[in-house]
Amino acid sequence: MHEPVLELSGVSFSYGDKAVLEDINLIVNSGDFLGIVGPNGSGKSTLLKIIVGLLRPATGTVKLFGIKRHLFREWTRVGYVPQKVTAFNHGFPATAEEVVMSGLTAMLGVFKRPGRHERQMVDEAMENTGVSQLRKRIIGELSGGQQQRVFIARALVSRPQMLILDEPTVGVDVEAQGKFYELLAELRREQGITLLMVSHDIGVVTEKVQSVACLNKKLYFHGSPEDFWAGENLSQLYGSPVRALYHAH
Ligand SMILES: Nc1ncnc2c1ncn2[C@@H]1O[C@H](COP(=O)(O)OP(=O)(O)O)[C@@H](O)[C@H]1O
Ligand SMILES: [Mg+2]
Repeated sequence: MHEPVLELSGVSFSYGDKAVLEDINLIVNSGDFLGIVGPNGSGKSTLLKIIVGLLRPATGTVKLFGIKRHLFREWTRVGYVPQKVTAFNHGFPATAEEVVMSGLTAMLGVFKRPGRHERQMVDEAMENTGVSQLRKRIIGELSGGQQQRVFIARALVSRPQMLILDEPTVGVDVEAQGKFYELLAELRREQGITLLMVSHDIGVVTEKVQSVACLNKKLYFHGSPEDFWAGENLSQLYGSPVRALYHAH
């Protein structure tokens, strides 16, 4: 039931000679909701790119669903919403439905055209994320919150068991954020999906997640939100004034 869906051991990474991640060890179990927090430039997005196979670690191993990364082929089991997907300009010429359908490309290959089954999967993903009524709308003309849901639908269309989100609430208004967290809770409850979310909003995140990981090149902490707040994690990550600031609300 709670077998690891993700295991990192001794993972390091550099861009050229700039070391960005150092000796990361992390296990995420099935059904967990993990929030990864850390200051700007702490390597959060880089870590996610390594997990989803876009970057190769310099050292260490990554296992997905118990399979070593270089042998792993079942990428449809992993949904990924990259950072800043909602920063489209108005002219971007795809409809919401086309964006969601593009999430099936990995499954279909480039040459196969979508059939009835694929259309059903698109319908289902759009329904589950509450964007069915936007299907013919141009993506660049939607609000930040609407675009976010379309991209979550795109990540969910292959029915992944793990959903990975990079700063999903940036550029999304407060009301849409509330709905977004409701959607995540529903996905966990009804589909048992494992969630991995990067955010810099520590206050909000620690209210919503089951466990927290603090990253700043190294992984400083991994545990419950309660233990996170009980420890000296914020001062380690950001310096001491931040701790007082976050405790104030
Ligand atoms: N493609 C890249 N080439 C060189 N350096 C990069 C690249 N992407 C990110 N970096 C640098 O690596 C560090 C970590 O970046 P990133 O993983 O995006 O951090 P975060 O998501 O926590 O803000 C930063 O210093 C950033 O400037
Ligand atoms: Mg980032």
